[in-house]
Amino acid sequence: MDEIKKKLWAIGGGKGGVGKSIVSIMLGASLARQGKKVILVDADLGGSNLHTLVGIKYPLYTLADFINRQVENIEEVVMDTPVENMQLICGADDILGIANPKNTQKNRLFNHLKNLKADYIVLDLGAGASFTTMDFFLFATNKICVLTPQITSIQNAYGFIKASMYRGLMQVFRGEPGAQDMVRRASSAIEGENIDSIDTLKDSLKNLDEHFESDLNTYIESLKIKTIVNMVRNDREKEVGNIVRSVAENYLNLPLENYGYVPYDRILVNSINHMPEFLKNRKDSMSSMSFYEIAGSIIRDSEQPSTSESRFSVKIPASRL
Ligand SMILES: Nc1ncnc2c1ncn2[C@@H]1O[C@H](COP(=O)(O)OP(=O)(O)O)[C@@H](O)[C@H]1O
Ligand SMILES: [Mg+2]
Repeated sequence: MDEIKKKLWAIGGGKGGVGKSIVSIMLGASLARQGKKVILVDADLGGSNLHTLVGIKYPLYTLADFINRQVENIEEVVMDTPVENMQLICGADDILGIANPKNTQKNRLFNHLKNLKADYIVLDLGAGASFTTMDFFLFATNKICVLTPQITSIQNAYGFIKASMYRGLMQVFRGEPGAQDMVRRASSAIEGENIDSIDTLKDSLKNLDEHFESDLNTYIESLKIKTIVNMVRNDREKEVGNIVRSVAENYLNLPLENYGYVPYDRILVNSINHMPEFLKNRKDSMSSMSFYEIAGSIIRDSEQPSTSESRFSVKIPASRL
């Protein structure tokens, strides 16, 4: 496993407004509070707002400066935040067309991100399942999918996970057009109508090449996607995490790890315009305590000896995406 990449955590989830940015900030601040050096990255290219949440009105530098080569090294766009130990790389509006960077730009960005000097690099992803968002998600060794108890959020979270997994498989089988074709067909199968789409895919891959099935299994095992259910109001709402987990298990053979719940927190809602003060003064709020616990899990998981991560997490070839 690429040790350097172990520190990368992506926070995605498909739907807007589920709390990806809040989760990123709160986990970042909790890790920072526990003495870890954290860099938050606003990877919501084209819809950035993380800087506003941490109280930076006008970012001096943004990711756009790096992507457009105004600066050569990504370290130059890292800014301090009011939270000790927590720094930020601001996102940018899409005026310069950076919401869809070219693959060469993406690869340069990924290379620089993984070499940033920090204990944890937290990538706050945009909504939707654009190629760029999925590539950020797949690039990070640790993947968290945020959802809320709303049915639309459950659907989007599953859709995002499924689309990301199949995109990852397309990269695994690059250079193998036959296998890619099968992956493409499986990815468009409709759940329920074709319950065994992933099993069918495994069988057909096996027929094509005896190694392909184990390549697929190894990749799926390496994904290790975690779920956080945010804005939970009662015990029943905690159960929605189980729905996504069982659908992913049944239809994709993809095990998801329950990474916890965050309660709906009225104090947090009322503090959105004053997050730095909230982070400093309301460590006792309902959500703060949950985030602190989840940060503990992040630290625990990061300190475990590496398992064999993907030999599949490779560069994105310019021709394939
Ligand atoms: N745990 C929570 N309790 C209450 N409100 C929350 C919680 N998490 C997020 N929110 C609310 O949801 C809004 C959207 O969150 P945000 O992180 O911007 O979503 P996303 O980044 O997924 O689009 C926040 O402005 C806040 O009002
Ligand atoms: Mg956001």
